[in-house]
This record gives sequence, C-alpha cells and structure tokens, in this order.
Amino acid sequence: MSVTAPSNATSTATITLDATGQSTKLPLLTGTLGPAVADIRKLPAELGIFTYDPAYGGTAACDSKITYIDGDEGVLLHRGYPIDQLAERATFPEVAYLLLNGELPNQAEHAAFTTELNNHTMLHEQLRHFYNGFNRNAHPMAVICGVVGALSAFYHDSLDINDRGHRELSAMRLIAKMPTIAAWTYKYTHGFPFTYPRNDLNYAENFLHMMFAMPSAPYQVSPVLSRAMDRILILHADHEQNASTSTVRLAGSTGANPFACIAAGIASLWGPAHGGANEAVLKMLGTIGSKDHIADFIAKVKDRSSGVKLMGFGHRVYKNFDPRAKIMQATCHEVLGELGIKHDPLLELAVELERIAIEDEYFVSRKLYPNVDFYSGIILKAMGIPTSMFTVLFAVARTAGWISQWKEMIEEPGQRIGRPRQIYTGAGPRDLVSMAERA
Ligand code: SDX
Repeated sequence: MSVTAPSNATSTATITLDATGQSTKLPLLTGTLGPAVADIRKLPAELGIFTYDPAYGGTAACDSKITYIDGDEGVLLHRGYPIDQLAERATFPEVAYLLLNGELPNQAEHAAFTTELNNHTMLHEQLRHFYNGFNRNAHPMAVICGVVGALSAFYHDSLDINDRGHRELSAMRLIAKMPTIAAWTYKYTHGFPFTYPRNDLNYAENFLHMMFAMPSAPYQVSPVLSRAMDRILILHADHEQNASTSTVRLAGSTGANPFACIAAGIASLWGPAHGGANEAVLKMLGTIGSKDHIADFIAKVKDRSSGVKLMGFGHRVYKNFDPRAKIMQATCHEVLGELGIKHDPLLELAVELERIAIEDEYFVSRKLYPNVDFYSGIILKAMGIPTSMFTVLFAVARTAGWISQWKEMIEEPGQRIGRPRQIYTGAGPRDLVSMAERA
C-alpha cells in the first residue's frame, strides 16, 4: 500500500541511517491542539526499519476529535468543552450525546436522546437467568465482563458494524443498559432481588434506584446523591487513548461486534494500574489506617524493592494535577457535607496523604499528582457503594467514551486492522531433533 503524506503535513523531520547514509523525510502532522506527530508509516518500505515504543508512551495510534488532554497544563476537553464546565453545568446524558455526536444536544435533541435511552434500559429477560451462572461471591467486574460480552448473543439486530443504524442502535443499547447490568450485578452478588429500570427517573437517579431500592419499602433517590453520581459519571466518561479505550479500538479494528469490543474494554479497565485503582486506593487507605502511619507507608513506596505504589497517584499523560481529581475532591466535601458526615476519617487521611506526597521530592521529581481515582472511592463509599463496585461504575461511565471512540474508528475512511510489530529476541533458525536425541 503506497503511503502518501497526509494533507495536513506542515513540515518534515529527516531520519538518516548513519550506517548506510540512507535517509527519508517524515511528514510532521499537526492537529487542532497538541504536539506535532511524525508520520512514520513509510519507514519500513523506505528504510526497512520499524520504531520501538513498548508502552506506546510516545506513539499516536490514531487521530480523534473526541477528547484532548494537555498533561503539562492539566487540561481535559471533550469536543472542546473543559471538563470542569461539563461537570458543573451538563448532565451525563448530555456528555454522552456530545461524545457520540460532536455537539451538545439542544432541547429537542436531548429529549429524543433520553427517550431513546429509556427505550433500551431493560435487559432481555433471559439475561436475568444468565446471572445465575455466576458464583454469588464473584467479583462484580467478572460478572459485567461476562454479561456485556453475552449481549451479542441477544441483540442480533445491532451487530453489523457496516450498517450505520446497527452502530447507532448498539451504542444506545450499551449506554442505556450498563446501569441496569451494573445494578443487577450488585444485587446478584449480595443476594438481593433485582430492581427494574424506571423511565420516570433520569440516568443517575435510575441507576441509584436500581442499586438500592428493595421491594419491601419505597426508596426515594436523594437529589444530592444523584447529582453527585451524575458528576462522577461525567468525570469518567472518556479520556483519549487510555489502555481500555485502545483495547476497544484494537478489538474493533478486526471487525468484532461492539458488545465484544466493550467487554474487552471492561477487562482491560479492571487492572489496578488503570480503572481498578479506585478500589486499590480504598484498600491502600485501609492499610495505612491512620495519619501517623503515613510516613512509614511513604517510605515503603520510595523503597522500589517493596513494589508498593501510591495508588491514585501518577499518570502517563498528566504531569500536573488531573483536573478530574480536583473536581472529585470538591465533590467529596459536598457529598459528605450533604450526608451530614462531619468528618470522614478516610477523606482526612487521603487529604493528609496528598498534602505530604505533593511536597515530597520523590513524587515532585517524578511529577506524580493525584489522578481521578484518588478521591472517587471515598465519595462512592460514602454513598453506600461497596469497594468491589467502584470499577464497575467507572465502566458504566466509560462505556459512553468507549463506544464513541469505537464508532469514530469504524467510520474512519480507510480504517485498517491494528497490528503492531516487535523486536524479535528469541533463538535463531535451528533444526528439530527427535525426542530420543534430546538431552
Ligand atoms: C487511570 O491513561 C489514562 O488516561 C487512564 C485514566 C483514564 O481516565 O482512562 O486516567 C484512568 O487509569 C488513572 C491511573 C490510575 N492508576 C493508579 O493510580 C495506579 C498508580 N499509578 C501508577 O501505577 C502509574 O502512575 C500509572 C500506571 C498511572 C502510570 O504509569 P507510567 O506512566 O508507566 O509511570 P512511570 O512508570 O513512567 O512512572 C515514572 C516514575 C517511575 O519511577 P522511576 O522508575 O522513574 O524511579 O514514577 C514512579 C515509577 O515507579 N511512579 C510511582 C507511581 N506512579 C509512577 N511511584 C509510586 N507511586 C505511584 N503511583
């Protein structure tokens, strides 16, 4: 396939092989915001070499219009809108619409979108029985991984990725059904009866109602908690090409159906280095126990042989405060105040831990600051959500981002299957000897 310099190449970078003097000019591509990107696609053909970037720290795998992060400045934009404005003044369905369609909805579009979401909040009744196959003490992430992957066994009328209607229907189904799947997972793993979705409630209210309503008594959703939940969902909705989004894109590049791709994203999010960090932060705070143990814990973190990390700190892209962490901390104080929790030992411990860490040379020199996961668990715990459900909540929110990124990739002209290369460091060619002759 001949690679032509894309129309937005503004300048070039020359790469020369010292051994042979061969050289080629790489187009430098520029986006709306952010650094220039060297287009290396012709390197194998022209110089017979690949590039090497094992954790993709310096590699742009795609171009995208959805989210922009400036890690040095601590900036996060969704379709150009700053995350703090969206968190303060939009709702999660509005943000989901924005991620999917590129613009915020007007009133008519918002009404149609929320009505369409409401039409898809229910699960096929057979899926209720699917839960019975899981151990009651299964980790909720194991359950949603299975249930979301199983959706492709039920919704055959939205599997054709080449059909725009199918793509849009699967996107709506996933965004609408994730709260039901998550709430039923919580209920199942606690032996409680399922609560069905209600169309008279908004997205966040419906989720909390399915989580906590019981048939034995009426359950009134707290407006404070539903607003906090809506904001938490917004803060987790999308985040450029993180590990789980890249997983969804790579799975999608093979033509796999959208439900399978989102299940792959859920599996990837589960890791403690990624979406599993919110659960790990609560465990870490529990291990530290009290403020007077912080110094010992920090010493352990600095001792690399301990393998202990300060969970909820650090980020591949943010080398400044994660803007979401600041909003999350403010929401923490709001929710605890509204709940009449005068002092929350976990929050006080987290605030003190942050204060010490951000003044400590070890963290400052490595540009390690709190990320989105550092405070989220404290709010969720105060809202009555068990630690094992924290990453499930992250998955509910990130489904809007994952499916928007998936849709953008599928609709990209000339989209191809992702297939990275490697440096081979194994044995050279050798002949097989029979078992009898082997030492
Ligand atoms: C999310 O990518 C995204 O956008 C993800 C996310 C999203 O919305 O999708 O933002 C969500 O996953 C947030 C991150 C949640 N994970 C955690 O909080 C787990 C703790 N953090 C680390 O595991 C780590 O910071 C990562 C995984 C987040 C980032 O890993 P990097 O970029 O590979 O970090 P690095 O290894 O380059 O770190 C540089 C240095 C190293 O020390 P040196 O080898 O230079 O001596 O900082 C150290 C690291 O050892 N370091 C930490 C640390 N994070 C990095 N040391 C102690 N505690 C930490 N948390």
